[in-house]
Amino acid sequence: RHHLLSVEQFTRESVGEFFRVADIMQPIARRQKVCRVLEGAVLANLFFEASTRTRVSFGAAFCRLGGSVCDTTGFSFSSMAKGESIYDTSRVIAGYADAIVVRHPEKGSVAEFAAASNIPVINGGDGPGEHPSQALLDLYTIETEFSRVGKLVDGAHIALVGDLKYGRTVHSLIKLLALYRGMKFTLISPTALEMPAHIVDQVSRNGHVVVQTQSMHDGLRGADVVYATRIQKERFVDESMEGYSPDFQINASLVDAVCGKDTIIMHPLPRDSREGANDLATDLNHDPRLAIFRQTDNGIPIRMAIFAVLMGVDTLIQRNMRDVSWKT
Ligand code: CP
Repeated sequence: RHHLLSVEQFTRESVGEFFRVADIMQPIARRQKVCRVLEGAVLANLFFEASTRTRVSFGAAFCRLGGSVCDTTGFSFSSMAKGESIYDTSRVIAGYADAIVVRHPEKGSVAEFAAASNIPVINGGDGPGEHPSQALLDLYTIETEFSRVGKLVDGAHIALVGDLKYGRTVHSLIKLLALYRGMKFTLISPTALEMPAHIVDQVSRNGHVVVQTQSMHDGLRGADVVYATRIQKERFVDESMEGYSPDFQINASLVDAVCGKDTIIMHPLPRDSREGANDLATDLNHDPRLAIFRQTDNGIPIRMAIFAVLMGVDTLIQRNMRDVSWKT
């Protein structure tokens, strides 16, 4: 409970606890209230890989609770460029700060930071491993969207599309959703980018239905959630793009042909907007089923809840809130 490294730490009850704290945070996230329970605390935000959402929203969440943030971006701005180990780096920073968020290209590396730290370490994405805070905000988004139309997460059909091999967001999300009952997961990807077999086995063993297909039309039909991901070419070892065509793209004509009016279209972002990219087309931008910016907005209350729970101030939030004295 001290660190947040993997969704495997969670039970359904502890997820519910995080979401109750996130609900309490909403007036702060919406800038109606301020709360400074982390005044005097320092966050070390260590990003050894590119990030927009995770880096800025963890930083903003910490600041909105009254704390301050020190950032480092990329290896060249840290003494790891001079050969310093993860152990020494983490041990040193634990003496300067009160919490650490790390994004790093190697799977398992954030756990190494945690092993050397006596302050909370939060996994902001470890290579193709996990991205637990993203999965929490994704599940929070699904629950919020479903509650508007009276749906439950139990028994839902979730279609995960794209790079399921290297996509750490889908690795965390499918394991978190497997805490629910009677789920159906449809995994749509080219063969070279299929979900790792150990994750498929783990989810199947929990009694959920897992279908793997390359047919977008068959796979998306009847889905309550369509979750697209970017192809992470930067992580390819010997995979090729052969077998991955615009046929795997989520776009308006496909969604209109096979998805229902209450289907939610999600993506952790960034989506690739370059020519020839094929994860999520922009022609859905004005479709109310597209939940991508509701997901990003939910990053703030969820990440405030993570800090509040890990740093032991979750019970102080409500009584320390006051109205904002400024307008945005
Ligand atoms: N979803 C996500 O992790 O986005 P960033 O890479 O911009 O942080």
